[in-house]
Amino acid sequence: MKNIALICGGKSPEHEISVRSAKNILSAIDRSQFRVTLIAIDRQGRWRLQEESQLGKFVAAEGPQLALLPGNETGQIIRLDNGQPIEQPAAIFLILHGPQGEDGTIQGLLRILDLPFVGPDVLGSSVAMDKDVAKRLLKEAGLNVARGIVVHAHERDTLDYEQLTKQFGSPVFVKPANMGSSVGVHKVKTAAQFDAAIKDAFQYDTKLLIEEMIHGRELECAVLGNELPKVTKAGEVVIVSEEEYSFDAKYENADAAQLMIPAEVSEAELERLRSVAIRAYQALNCEVLSRVDMFLTAEGKVYVNEINTLPGFTNISMYPALWKEAGIAYPVLITRLIELSISRHEARKQLKTSWRE
Ligand SMILES: Nc1ncnc2c1ncn2[C@@H]1O[C@H](COP(=O)(O)OP(=O)(O)O)[C@@H](O)[C@H]1O
Ligand SMILES: [Mg+2]
Repeated sequence: MKNIALICGGKSPEHEISVRSAKNILSAIDRSQFRVTLIAIDRQGRWRLQEESQLGKFVAAEGPQLALLPGNETGQIIRLDNGQPIEQPAAIFLILHGPQGEDGTIQGLLRILDLPFVGPDVLGSSVAMDKDVAKRLLKEAGLNVARGIVVHAHERDTLDYEQLTKQFGSPVFVKPANMGSSVGVHKVKTAAQFDAAIKDAFQYDTKLLIEEMIHGRELECAVLGNELPKVTKAGEVVIVSEEEYSFDAKYENADAAQLMIPAEVSEAELERLRSVAIRAYQALNCEVLSRVDMFLTAEGKVYVNEINTLPGFTNISMYPALWKEAGIAYPVLITRLIELSISRHEARKQLKTSWRE
């Protein structure tokens, strides 16, 4: 029986989504193989040991705080209330979204603690999180991405909406470089909307993207694996009552967007989507898992929109649903993710840490 530490919550606007995903993982994980230690990060960023039954909508400020002791062979995570280590985890199941969850920061911390964790490593997590850097790498890999510009906070006053629409047409999309769940993402059609969008998006990041709108269907593929990743069929996000795939459409209003799994695409289109998904995954150094989000235009051109390295695992989420369609049930998928994170860690352990020996 392996002990798995599930980490959820965190200092991110996606805190609540993370807790929802965590509850799903808790109910699906194979209890005959795994014991679960729940570590919940509260909104201040404090790590706490929680009972599963204590997990509400958010992580509440209860449960003993935890402290980290890098360098110990075991017992790197100790309880502050009694100074005792928690049971050594065989792996960490990270179920955090957005900044400080998916962006390489916590991955770095877990590398320092020398613990295996689910999801891409520091590099893959951070480059996929930053939509500007991700797009540059995708372009370099020969993949299509939306044209656009990057604006830093200090360049804000130089923006000219009219000029931008001449270059990119109307509407344009404004989004923070590092965020998720559509937080701070705006589709704008007027100068007034543009100003409001810029103001809002700069609340979440010091770097924004302004992009042309890609007119196409939204298709997503789930990718799983390390050296030889596997890819599912495509799933489609069909937006019913909103203009784009907003936070509400993703999580609040189940009727606003429907997931079509598998998507109705031709064989040739599907092959193109799957191949783009794998190339994008490898271009961004992804490992263990990621969901690759794409647009498919009426002419059959595939654009990569973004790559989510810790995709949602709620009961209405695309990633587990795509694997289910492929014949891999949710509990089996969870086991596979844990195995992949452990095998990557084992491979790294073989590397020398001293050149003299
Ligand atoms: N360039 C674009 N063209 C068309 N739609 C877009 C574009 N950028 C974003 N969107 C829409 O906004 C949604 C959220 O944007 P996205 O870049 O995926 O950010 P997030 O990381 O918050 O999910 C997308 O799912 C899509 O519906
Ligand atoms: Mg998205």
